[in-house]
Amino acid sequence: MLKIKNLHASVEDKEILRGINLEVKAGEVHAIMGPNGSGKSTLASVIAGKDEFEVTEGSIELYGEDLEDISPEERAHMGVFLSFQYPVEIPGVSVTNFMKTAINESRKAKGLEDMPAKEMLKLIREKSELLEIDRKFLSRSLNEGFSGGEKKRNEIFQMAMLEPKVAILDETDSGLDIDALRIVANGVNKLKSKDNAVILITHYQRLLEYIVPDFVHVLHNGKIVKSGGKELALELEEKGYDWLKQEATV
Ligand SMILES: Nc1ncnc2c1ncn2[C@@H]1O[C@H](COP(=O)(O)OP(=O)(O)O)[C@@H](O)[C@H]1O
Ligand SMILES: [Mg+2]
Repeated sequence: MLKIKNLHASVEDKEILRGINLEVKAGEVHAIMGPNGSGKSTLASVIAGKDEFEVTEGSIELYGEDLEDISPEERAHMGVFLSFQYPVEIPGVSVTNFMKTAINESRKAKGLEDMPAKEMLKLIREKSELLEIDRKFLSRSLNEGFSGGEKKRNEIFQMAMLEPKVAILDETDSGLDIDALRIVANGVNKLKSKDNAVILITHYQRLLEYIVPDFVHVLHNGKIVKSGGKELALELEEKGYDWLKQEATV
């Protein structure tokens, strides 16, 4: 479903991604690992279409459609989900109301009417039960005073409600505690299906103890320097990244 070919991207004339090739099929979970500064978050942002990055070469296709001229909003409507896309605190707007607005905006973009209130309630109930999110949480103000775990819960809830085709979770936060890890892992494991794909970005092997990826890719200096199965994550845990850096410079 997602095909990235020879992708080069720059920010402020500095080349960050230097020829990424990656194909993600429906039903797959891909983990992207790599040291700090290797370009993981940049890759996520470029897929989502954030405009501070400039694609200088190569292409990203979703369902065979080139995303080059497609705005971040349209990409989202096509089913690209990036966690932390809405990190703002909005006092007075509840988790639920924010979600209702997001869903109806997405429907509007597709030429659909607002989701009937009853249907919306049913969807919210279904998804919050699946993820074991309690009602009190749903009425909290968005991100206001959220703990790390609660932020994750909110993100996973957004993902569940929007039912993306390609979910990109960028686990940048070094403060991911066990509670937050479990929330993310549990959510991904419950939401993955044969029709969607997950790209999980992390430099922690730990997360992959809970979410078993089909493929692991190591990014270094803007390139994928190694790809493998889940065993590659264990190898990285054991050996670190240095052996790959050496291979990468050859
Ligand atoms: N908005 C930006 N402006 C300038 N440099 C950036 C920006 N975003 C990322 N970079 C640079 O790009 C490189 C890769 O960053 P990033 O993609 O965040 O790496 P990772 O997520 O793997 O830690 C780093 O050298 C970083 O300083
Ligand atoms: Mg990052």
